[in-house]
Amino acid sequence: MKSILITGGAGFIGNHVVRHFVNKYPDYKIVNLDKLTYAGNLETLKDIEQAPNYTFVKACITDEDQINKIFDDYNITDVIHLAAESHVDRSITDPLVFLRTNILGTANLLNAARNKWSNYKDHIFYHISTDEVFGSLGDEGLFEETTPYDPRSPYSASKASSDHLVRAYHHTYGMQVKITNCSNNYGPYQFPEKLVPLIINNIKYKKPLPVYGDGTNVRDWLFVTDHVEAIDLVFHKGTDGETYNIGGNNEMQNIELVHVLCDTVDRHLGREAGDARSRITFVKDRAGHDQRYAIDASKIKNELGWEPQVDVAGGMEQTVTWYLANMGWLDNVTSGAYKEYYAAHYS
Ligand code: NAD
Ligand code: DAU
Repeated sequence: MKSILITGGAGFIGNHVVRHFVNKYPDYKIVNLDKLTYAGNLETLKDIEQAPNYTFVKACITDEDQINKIFDDYNITDVIHLAAESHVDRSITDPLVFLRTNILGTANLLNAARNKWSNYKDHIFYHISTDEVFGSLGDEGLFEETTPYDPRSPYSASKASSDHLVRAYHHTYGMQVKITNCSNNYGPYQFPEKLVPLIINNIKYKKPLPVYGDGTNVRDWLFVTDHVEAIDLVFHKGTDGETYNIGGNNEMQNIELVHVLCDTVDRHLGREAGDARSRITFVKDRAGHDQRYAIDASKIKNELGWEPQVDVAGGMEQTVTWYLANMGWLDNVTSGAYKEYYAAHYS
């Protein structure tokens, strides 16, 4: 029987992965390991917390003894590793926590797996990574799996390091590993430091809408459940040692995306057209702001048959609908340990 350790399951993408695996695979035991930093919230998983194949463990991935014990206690057979410090702006103001969690934490998990697993071919260590490891694009071109790494923020450098460690354990010890590098996710349960929920929240409360620089930076937006489907496929059918890029085929300039959110939220709230757009405020640019990310996802399409199902119009509509119906969730996650930081940066 599989006993899968999913790290970071109380975070944005992790909760969708945990819910999907718990519901779709009743024969798997799912162990959700999370430190519950400001970004992790168990309220998000209320609907599955009683499921017989689900367990939550509060732990830090950098704690060697605790992680080794969890591998033993739950007889962990596979790992889907999402736990990370994930917000680029925070990596600029406080880089060391990113290096500890994202690099040392990943190394610690790999090593616990190395200690525990005797036949690597029976086990999978799957690392969920980012397209930011490839650096920044100009107007043309796409990131491919073979694009050389060129991380440019403390966050992306830490994720690049963790990818390299995963590959090192594959080449050195023969561990079965998989890596996916994904573009910007959006959807329900995303912490409102990230652009999409931040803008929705600020529109709702009639606050300024901060757009960095001139708003021409481009991101490739992927609805989170499309990402989860890709993770399921790669976990079950991806090739040992391979990397797959995952993207939404939805490139947009930030300012275009903010306009879509303004118009959608205004419509939902019955406000006058242009009301939210009038509060767009161009603010000081992010230090080292990557200009453009764009993914070539043809490998996962050709080899595993995955393609995103949700276009950006439908996905943003669903996302706005969800946030406006769940403002209580937003209020709760911004009222805990994160309150001061949130108030200082986003009020
Ligand atoms: P998130 O910040 O919403 O969640 C991260 C989770 O990890 C939180 O629940 C947090 O409590 C937990 N965590 C943090 N430090 C920990 C530690 N030391 N020990 C145990 N748990 C810890 O992040 P997310 O947006 O859901 O991203 C999940 C993963 O996907 C990350 O590895 C990220 O790099 C990657 N990724 C994210 C995106 C995106 O657009 N959000 C895109 C590509 C890849
Ligand atoms: O590309 C994948 C990455 O996407 C993930 O690896 C990261 O974990 C995730 O945080 C995300 O990184 P970004 O920096 O692209 O996401 P963020 O939502 O912070 O910003 C999206 C864009 O919007 C970026 O160009 C910066 C800009 N921005 C962001 C904020 C928070 C603004 O203009 N204003 C804002 O207030």
